[in-house]
Amino acid sequence: MGEVDAAFIQEPHHRPHPSLAQEAQGIPLIDLSSPDVDALIDDIGHACKQWGFFQIINHGVPSERRLRLEAAARKFFHLSSNEKRKVRRDARKVLGYYDTEHTKNVRDWKEVFDYTVQEPTLAAASIDPDDDRVAHWENQWPQNPPEMREACQEYAKDMVELASRLMELISMSLGLPPRRFEDFFKDHTSSTRINRYPPCPSPELALGVGPHKDPGVLTILAQDEVGGLEVKRKSDGQWVGVKPIPNTYIINLGDVLQVWTNGQYQSVDHRVMVNSAKERFSIPFFLNPSHYTTVEPLEELTNDQNPAKYKSYNWGKFALTRKRSNFTKLPVENIQIHHFQNIPTHSYLRDCPRIFG
Ligand code: OGA
Ligand code: NI
Repeated sequence: MGEVDAAFIQEPHHRPHPSLAQEAQGIPLIDLSSPDVDALIDDIGHACKQWGFFQIINHGVPSERRLRLEAAARKFFHLSSNEKRKVRRDARKVLGYYDTEHTKNVRDWKEVFDYTVQEPTLAAASIDPDDDRVAHWENQWPQNPPEMREACQEYAKDMVELASRLMELISMSLGLPPRRFEDFFKDHTSSTRINRYPPCPSPELALGVGPHKDPGVLTILAQDEVGGLEVKRKSDGQWVGVKPIPNTYIINLGDVLQVWTNGQYQSVDHRVMVNSAKERFSIPFFLNPSHYTTVEPLEELTNDQNPAKYKSYNWGKFALTRKRSNFTKLPVENIQIHHFQNIPTHSYLRDCPRIFG
C-alpha cells in the first residue's frame, strides 16, 4: 500500500495514540464450559449490560479449524494483487476480496476477504423501500490456495453453531426462552470476513478500521497475537486495547441486538490500530438475521413504562444501505442506528424520507 495517502488520514480527533495505548483491565472472560448454567447466564447478562462485549474460553470450536483457515488466508493475501483481484468485490458482486474499504468515509488500512454462510444468500435487491425483489448473493472462491474454500466453509459451520449457543444464553439472560430468537435466522445473512492489516508507516495517522459499531446481531472475532483492537469502554468512554488471549473469541454486540432489547444491551464502538512492524490478521463472523426481518424492540421487553425506543426497519434494506459506504466516500454520514431512535427524530430520516420513511 506504500506511503500513507491522504485518503487514509483520520480527522485529528479520531487519530489513535499507539504509544499511550492502554490495555483494559476487567474485560469479562467467560468460560462456556462452566457446569453452573445459572451463573453462566448471569455473567453473560452482566457482560452484555456493562461492556457490550466479552471474551470466551472453552467455547468448543476446535483450534485446528481456525488455524487451517488462518494458514489458507495467509497464502491468499500473499498472492499478487492481480491474482487477488480475480475475486474482487464491487457494488454488484458484494462478496470476495477488497482492499479499498471506507469506514465512516475514511479509507481503512487493510485488505479483506468476505464470504457468506448460506450459498446463495438471499438479500434485498435494492435500497428502494418499494422494491421487494430478492437478490442471490454468491461467494467468489479463489482458485489459490485450493484449500481456501473448504477451510472457509468448515469454519463458518463452527461459527453458526457457536453463535446459536450464544444466542440461547443471551436470550435466557433477558428472561426469555432459549430459542426466542431462532425464527429470525431462517434465511440468515451471516458472513465471515478475513482481515489482513499490513504494516503501516504512520500508525498514528491511519486506522485499520475506523471507529464503528457492527450493524448485525453479534460478532464473534478471532484475532492473532499482534493486538490492535480497541473498544470504547462504556463506563468512561476511553478507548482501551483488548489484549489477545490465545484460543479465545471476542464477542461484541451489534445494533440489531440493541434494538431487539430496546436498549437494555447496547452495541459497542470499536476500532483497530495498525503498527509499523507487523501484519495482523483477524477473522470476524457477523451473525445477521434474514433479509426480510423487521427489526424492532421485542414485545416482551417493552411496556407502557418502557415504550419502544427505536423505529422498526427492514434488515435487508439497512444492510445494503450500509454497504454503499464501503465502496465510495460519501459526502454525508451513512445510515447509523442512532438515526432510528424515536426521540429526537434524526435529520437523516427527515432529509431522506424515501429511504426508510
Ligand atoms: C470489523 C472489526 C476488528 C478486528 O471487521 O468489523 O471490527 O480486530 N474488526 O479486526
Ligand atoms: Ni467491527
